[in-house]
Amino acid sequence: MHRRNFLRNSGMGLAAWSVMPHQLSAFDHVISDLHAYASSRQHALLVEDEAYWNIVRTAFRREGNYINLENGYFSPQAEPVLLSTQRNAAYINATSSHFMRREQEQAIETARTALADFLGVDAAGLALTRNTTESLNTVIAGFPWQRGDEVVNGNQDYGSMNEAFEQNALRYGFSMKTAAVPLLPQGDEEIVQAYTRLISGKTRMLHLTHLINLSGQLIPVAKIARASRAINPGICVVVDAAHSIAQLNFRLPELEADIVGASLHKWLCNPLGAGMLWMKQEWIPRIWPLMGDTGIAPDNIRRYEHQGTRPLQNLMSIPHAIAFHRSIGTELKEARLKFLMKRWAAAAAELPALRMQTPWNSEGRNSAIATVGHESLSPGQLAQLLFDKHKIFTVAIEHPVVRGVRITPHLYTSLGEVDALIKALKNPAGF
Ligand SMILES: Cc1ncc(COP(=O)(O)O)c(C=O)c1O
Repeated sequence: MHRRNFLRNSGMGLAAWSVMPHQLSAFDHVISDLHAYASSRQHALLVEDEAYWNIVRTAFRREGNYINLENGYFSPQAEPVLLSTQRNAAYINATSSHFMRREQEQAIETARTALADFLGVDAAGLALTRNTTESLNTVIAGFPWQRGDEVVNGNQDYGSMNEAFEQNALRYGFSMKTAAVPLLPQGDEEIVQAYTRLISGKTRMLHLTHLINLSGQLIPVAKIARASRAINPGICVVVDAAHSIAQLNFRLPELEADIVGASLHKWLCNPLGAGMLWMKQEWIPRIWPLMGDTGIAPDNIRRYEHQGTRPLQNLMSIPHAIAFHRSIGTELKEARLKFLMKRWAAAAAELPALRMQTPWNSEGRNSAIATVGHESLSPGQLAQLLFDKHKIFTVAIEHPVVRGVRITPHLYTSLGEVDALIKALKNPAGF
């Protein structure tokens, strides 16, 4: 095919990151079906309406003869988002250096603007990274540490962040104080105090995990941040929001953080390899980027985006992932995921051999994710039995605080699949 014809036929001669109707017919189809179905019904009733979720399910192609209840690692993309990403990859391949030299900047800015609007922040504070690990390692390694500084983190923070702190503590001579977050807290005050009792005049950074990946517990980050600043107003509050962005219905400023890192391939269902780093303007000139970029002004957030040549299609997909997400909406998504979690957790809580590791029935303290332990089976044994005997895929969590099998449903999870889990938990060995 002649190149001009190819471009015309594929619709890629125009801005490749805009949604072309004929490129994304499946996309339009699912979105319009969802709108059509939802428009004639009460929003609150959709949470339990399997016919609605069956439409959502058509957007996710799944393979494998098992029920996937391990959706906390990363999310598959909805087919329409995948399709647009593949088309953008083909477009970049076809235009190669011309794209990189003439179009990539606009593609990045389009993604940045869309994401900033979604998060409710100014685009000037938002960098597009590869994932949470990169975002928060940049901050932990690039912070202007001084020997004798202190950091307060939590005992259920993500391993990569703990290791980043350990490594940089050795390098720069700061010390760590770790808050013991209760597994099943009675109230916010208990969690707030676990942190604030460690804050001192020497504390430079407070690191909080908004939604704990081990158990699905949500912690009151804004309250902790406020109470900690009342003790030491100068601390930098850094939030790991890997699991909460696009799963829970909030806007970023509500966290009252100085810095937030997240991955967009988790609950935004963007392709793998896109993350975000948001900073309050005052921190941008103070935190060293991981990669040298002295060509960019020290107060410009783009200095955290220097990664060399990289696959831009994973950023160009961000507006599409947001559009798909909005076709359901965060409020309904959160409500549905919690509904599925509570359905199995309520049944598990009644079973004497099981131990819930998540405050699953405490309002404001939970999410899609919940973890359950067994009195006589190790987490590994329980996960293995669930897979071998019931074809249910989960993940075993062996942690000093949280021990059990982590269950994470997704938008494509049916009520029938959750009920299959309940049945399996009643008799894991399948006799
Ligand atoms: C709480 C938390 N933080 C950070 C990460 C790291 O995310 P990524 O591997 O996308 O950098 C994860 C991954 O599961 C996580 O659960």
